[in-house]
Amino acid sequence: MHHLASSIIEGLKGRRSIYALTNESTISDDRIEELISEAILHTPSPFNSQATRIIVLLKEEHEKLWDIAREVAIASVPTEQFEKLYQPRIAGFRAGYGTVLFYEDPAPVKLLEEKWPMLKDQFPIWSNHSSGMHQLAVWTLLEAEGLGCSLQHYGSLISVQTSEQWSIPIEWSLKAQLVFGKPTGPPREKTFEPLDKRLFVHGK
Ligand SMILES: Cc1cc2nc3c(=O)[nH]c(=O)nc-3n(C[C@H](O)[C@H](O)[C@H](O)COP(=O)(O)O)c2cc1C
Repeated sequence: MHHLASSIIEGLKGRRSIYALTNESTISDDRIEELISEAILHTPSPFNSQATRIIVLLKEEHEKLWDIAREVAIASVPTEQFEKLYQPRIAGFRAGYGTVLFYEDPAPVKLLEEKWPMLKDQFPIWSNHSSGMHQLAVWTLLEAEGLGCSLQHYGSLISVQTSEQWSIPIEWSLKAQLVFGKPTGPPREKTFEPLDKRLFVHGK
């Protein structure tokens, strides 16, 4: 058991935000699909509702996504803001190999709301929690195989276009985008708040 926990810690530590990526992969497309399949099968969901939906875009399809983001950003933010904030970031994401889109399907969530009216307000929140858990699992697994990833939130900008482009039901809610590719260097330095401000154990 100790060995397994140590491996999991190593995987969690290895999961970092990496922005400088190339359009290559360290693993095959089949391996990418296999890792994401394991993540979606084994990540928990509220009442086992399994409302998470994942779309994986590779190579040209990935580039199409960030071309869409670019077009929408040009059309919806002032030019100066686009050039300063959006253009360099979007170009960086487009330079990667793939993007994982994390959606939540509201249909299973609605069934839970009907079945458990007392918890009605909680289910959409828990749907977000479960999406986050899937994001962590996929992020950790891809980086364990040498890929670099960063988590992005362009859903409010691009979700109409992504639905159209990849025939995704319009009612699915786009929560996050995980961009990945072969890293060109190590992650940025990271600082840690003192643990004694963040972790409290009673009864030890
Ligand atoms: C819920 C959540 C939302 C995040 N949103 C973004 C984002 O929109 N863009 C981005 O570049 N990084 C985003 N991040 C990445 C964080 O900035 C990053 O995880 C944090 O600075 C710690 O660095 P590390 O990932 O290298 O450990 C997000 C992380 C989390 C957990």
